[in-house]
This record gives sequence, structure tokens and C-alpha cells, in this order.
Amino acid sequence: MNFNFDEIVNRNNTNCVKHDGLKNFLKVEDALPMWVADMDFKSPPCIANALKKRVEHGVFGYTFRSDAFFDSIINWMQKRHQWSIEKDWISFSPGVVAGFTLAIEQFTNPGDKIIVQPPVYFPFFQSVDDTKRKTVYNPLKLVDGRYTFDFDDLEPKIDDKTKMLLLCNPHNPGGSVWTKDELLKLHAFCQQKNILVVSDEIHADIVYQPAKHIPYASISESAAMNSMTVMSHSKTFNVAGLTTSFVICKNQELLKKYNKGLQIPHLHMGNIFGNEALVAAYTQGEPWLEELLEYLKNNVALVDAFLKKHLPQIKLIKPESTFLLWLDCRALKLNAKELGNLFLQDAKVAVNEGSMFGPGGEGFVRLNIGCPRSVLEKALNQILEAINNID
Ligand SMILES: Cc1ncc(COP(=O)(O)O)c(C=O)c1O
Repeated sequence: MNFNFDEIVNRNNTNCVKHDGLKNFLKVEDALPMWVADMDFKSPPCIANALKKRVEHGVFGYTFRSDAFFDSIINWMQKRHQWSIEKDWISFSPGVVAGFTLAIEQFTNPGDKIIVQPPVYFPFFQSVDDTKRKTVYNPLKLVDGRYTFDFDDLEPKIDDKTKMLLLCNPHNPGGSVWTKDELLKLHAFCQQKNILVVSDEIHADIVYQPAKHIPYASISESAAMNSMTVMSHSKTFNVAGLTTSFVICKNQELLKKYNKGLQIPHLHMGNIFGNEALVAAYTQGEPWLEELLEYLKNNVALVDAFLKKHLPQIKLIKPESTFLLWLDCRALKLNAKELGNLFLQDAKVAVNEGSMFGPGGEGFVRLNIGCPRSVLEKALNQILEAINNID
């Protein structure tokens, strides 16, 4: 190993949502932070070096994105995902949530219906509600321990107001990496019903073999023309605070509309440090990423073995992707509040209680394992003790 993922980095007093937010938002001081979806590892040195170099320049005025920005995205997509894209398909987004929210605003009208597939990252349905569109919930089905699409549920929910589907590919929190067959089926459905797909692929690079990320827009020419993808290096390289993401959209008519939404509030220029970090990550970050994936895979294995041995009543939904584990705690027979309290107040482990991810999330919790193994071990032991103490 060239990189030390065991290192404990003190993130307190950095206005860090995950650590300092325990006190500020959850009103607890002594819990282990396994909630907010960033990792406790230092980003790769190539990123820190690129940022230092930019800081040394000393002038931080307005910039536009360099050729290196576009080239590094194009090369990364080709190399990691075998997806051939072109420069004029790419645009900027300050964040992935900002990207899909702008898409909702630009491609649909208030009152239109938008499909989301819970349990899912909560801003999916919050953005739909906040933009005065209507959420159509199409809950995923849990089949043999893996989440998949439920077309039988979806079909009768569609009418001529249903305009968009927000896809989470790979899926947070269920951890599914959608297969080509699943995506082809989804595309056939959406094409037939005239439903545009906006695919959030922020977790594309944290995928455990043999699963393989397939960009939705890469499955066919018609899928490319009937979709927009929002992506970022932010989860993969732990740089979410630099608020830099991008969209990929072959359909130039859609991209033009998206860009208009971006330009009206002058969001298009972005953050100079975010641009530098993206180029460094995608051109030099691969060796770090390979070691990260190995480390995370072993963290997953640790949780799996621990639960099987000590807490068989909690079942791990085996992740194909993400550093966010979805734990099925339904056998504990606790309601959402009781389950939240068990983890936060009794075990002193801050997780995301499942009902916040929408229908189908009740009885589950999401545990962030993007942390040194010693912290994960401590958290598991605290959870065990709290559960053993339930009378
Ligand atoms: C599926 C998904 N999309 C988007 C985000 C947030 O992205 P951003 O901070 O770039 O808006 C997250 C963060 O957890 C996520 O899991």
C-alpha cells in the first residue's frame, strides 16, 4: 500500500458537516460520525499538490475551464467506463444535486410528474417537491438481497404528465450497480412513454468487482439522446467541499436548455480550485483510487463478517458500489424513531435512519464505511453492545 487509509485525520473544528455537524445539527458530542456521505481519508496527494500550486500563484479571479478539464473527463470516461464522449457534450455543474435540479427546472414544468425509485438519496424527491413538480414513487424491489427495478409497479403510475425519471446509477443507498439488461429495459420503457432520464452517476467510480458501472447514456444512441448524466470526481476522491461537478449530454438541444439554467444565476464559472482538483484526480489519481477500492472492499468484508458472527438479526445488503452500507434492521422490530435512537443515543454511532430515503427505507439504516478500519471496528462494537442491551 502506498497510501495510508488507516490514518486518523482530525476533522474537528473545520466546519465539517460530518464531524462538527454532530454537535451543530444532531446535538450530540460523543458519537462516531458514520452518516454524511464523505470519507475520512485524505484526498490523494496529487490533488493537494495541484491545489498548493494554484494557491502559490496568488491571484484567484474569474476563470473558464481549461482544455485539460475537458480532456481529463473524456479520457477518464473512456478508460474507466469505456464510454466515448466528446467535448461539446460536457458542461459544468456546481454539484450533482444542483445539476439534476437545474435539469428538472429546465426540462419540465411545474405540475409535471417525475419518477424516483426509493429508497433513494433524499434530495431526489426533495428537489422534485421544491421545484413544484410531483413525485411519482416507484419503489425498488429487494430480490434475493439485491435491489432491482419494479416495472409492474411503474406502468400503471404513468400518465401524460409523467415527464422525467431520476435514475441513481449506481444506487445510493441500496448499492446496486444497474446491469446492462436492467438499463436496456428501463430505456425501452422510458423511450416508449416519452420519459426523459436524468442519471446521477456520482458513485460510478466506487464499484466492487465483478460489478461494472455502465453509464446509462452509453447503452444506445437513443438512450444518449434521451438523457442527461450528472457526474463528479467528488465522492471518489473525497473533494465534495470543492463543489465541482459536470454534466454529459449528447442531445445538444437539451444541453442548451441546461446551460441556460446554469447561466441565469451565473453558476457557470465555478470554482478554480475545483477545476484544478478534477484535472489532478482524473489524470493522476488512479493508483490512489485502486488502493481505496481495496481498502473499502475490506471494510465491507469486515462488516459482513461481524454481522454474521455477532448480529445475525441485522442483514447487510451486499453493496456492488459506494462506501455507504444499507443495513436491514427490520428484524429488530423498531419504528423509525426507536431505530434512530438505538444507533445515535444508545450505540453513539451517527448513521442515516432509513425512512429519510423514502418509501421502503423504514427499518433500515445507512452506515458510512469511508473511514479507517479502527473507527469502523469501534462503531460495530458499540452497535453490538447497544443491541445486546435491548431488553
Ligand atoms: C446519489 C448522490 N447524488 C448526489 C450527491 C451529492 O452530490 P453534490 O454534493 O455534488 O450535490 C450524493 C451525496 O451523497 C449522492 O449520494
